Amino acid sequence: MTDGRIAKAQLGTGGPEVGLQGLGCMGMSWAYGPADADEARATLERALELGVTLFDTAEGYGDGENEKFLSPFFTAHRDEVVIATKYGLTFSPDDRSKRIIRNDPPYIRQAVEGSLRRLGVDVIDLYYMHRRDVNVPIEESVGAMAELVREGKVKHLGLSEVTAGELRAAQAVHPIAAVQSEWSLFSRDIETNVVPAVRELGVALVPYAPLGRGFLTGSFANADKDLTEDDARRAHPRFTGDNAAANGTLLEPIRTVAESHDATPGQIALAWVQQQATVHGFTVVPIPGTTKRSRVAENTAATRIVLTETELTLLAPLAGKVAGTRYPDMTFASAGRE
Ligand SMILES: NC(=O)c1ccc[n+]([C@@H]2O[C@H](COP(=O)([O-])OP(=O)(O)OC[C@H]3O[C@@H](n4cnc5c(N)ncnc54)[C@H](OP(=O)(O)O)[C@@H]3O)[C@@H](O)[C@H]2O)c1
Repeated sequence: MTDGRIAKAQLGTGGPEVGLQGLGCMGMSWAYGPADADEARATLERALELGVTLFDTAEGYGDGENEKFLSPFFTAHRDEVVIATKYGLTFSPDDRSKRIIRNDPPYIRQAVEGSLRRLGVDVIDLYYMHRRDVNVPIEESVGAMAELVREGKVKHLGLSEVTAGELRAAQAVHPIAAVQSEWSLFSRDIETNVVPAVRELGVALVPYAPLGRGFLTGSFANADKDLTEDDARRAHPRFTGDNAAANGTLLEPIRTVAESHDATPGQIALAWVQQQATVHGFTVVPIPGTTKRSRVAENTAATRIVLTETELTLLAPLAGKVAGTRYPDMTFASAGRE
């Protein structure tokens, strides 16, 4: 890394080269309460200056609004950015809490056209299945995704929150560049099955929510006070009531390690997940989400922090002590289906 820019990494065998840390864009127009659009636009530009090239969105983030919001930035910097979007998880227009998961080939063909239109580009660099519809064989879904590659609508394929078995079945149909799953100091369930499969198959891991949806920064110990009414984290067991208070006490060792690096707790959380690349022997490109330009500089600086073995040992037990599951219904995550 030179002049503050982050290093680069390749996503999977034959996948795109990206900055070692990406940017999660979901919160810019959805899920975590209101965001300042001008500041979010400035955050995108700042991220690019710092060497971030992988920008993450999805058709389901605000009913396509997030893809539309990102479109001017993507089209202005088309050759510099790697656009990652996802299909297959949307929300009922009548009841926003009701998820619609679809992986059938006709839906995939329709979804890609919608994303291309909203993004305002000819091709999507990395196209993920957002959530698995267990009623559709994954071979059929990935077959339809592979067709999109052949048609030039998509360059590389990814899968989000798949089990190890689903990943193996998918990889037999078409190379998978990246698996996107939740992975952080507080969420380590993928290490049992998914991580070994990712290593074996030469796929990259793109950890989402590497800051524990913000909890690991120390900003959200009390959801009742700290989160706005429309913040989706209010529905997450870890952010509510006694769980939030108990989880807040787990931040102490992170603060201790942060002090010794003259860093913030969030930077230690990001350094930990980044360092899993060395621990497990594959490419890891986390996508922390922020809507603020100062934070993107703070977060990318974490790629320079290397934790000692003693620090890794100190932090290792935290995930096992977290109160509350990472989703209210864990079948929504791969671990609930393994
Ligand atoms: N595949 C999936 O199913 C899935 C699920 C969830 C998310 N994602 C993707 O992963 C991305 C990241 O996940 P996430 O946003 O849920 O969680 P995250 O990255 O763990 O945390 C984001 C939260 O942390 C705050 N934050 C970021 N940097 C900070 C800093 N330096 N100091 C203090 N607070 C900081 C953000 O607030 P500010 O905006 O105020 O900075 C936001 O509230 C999303 O944007 C989305 O693209 C994918």
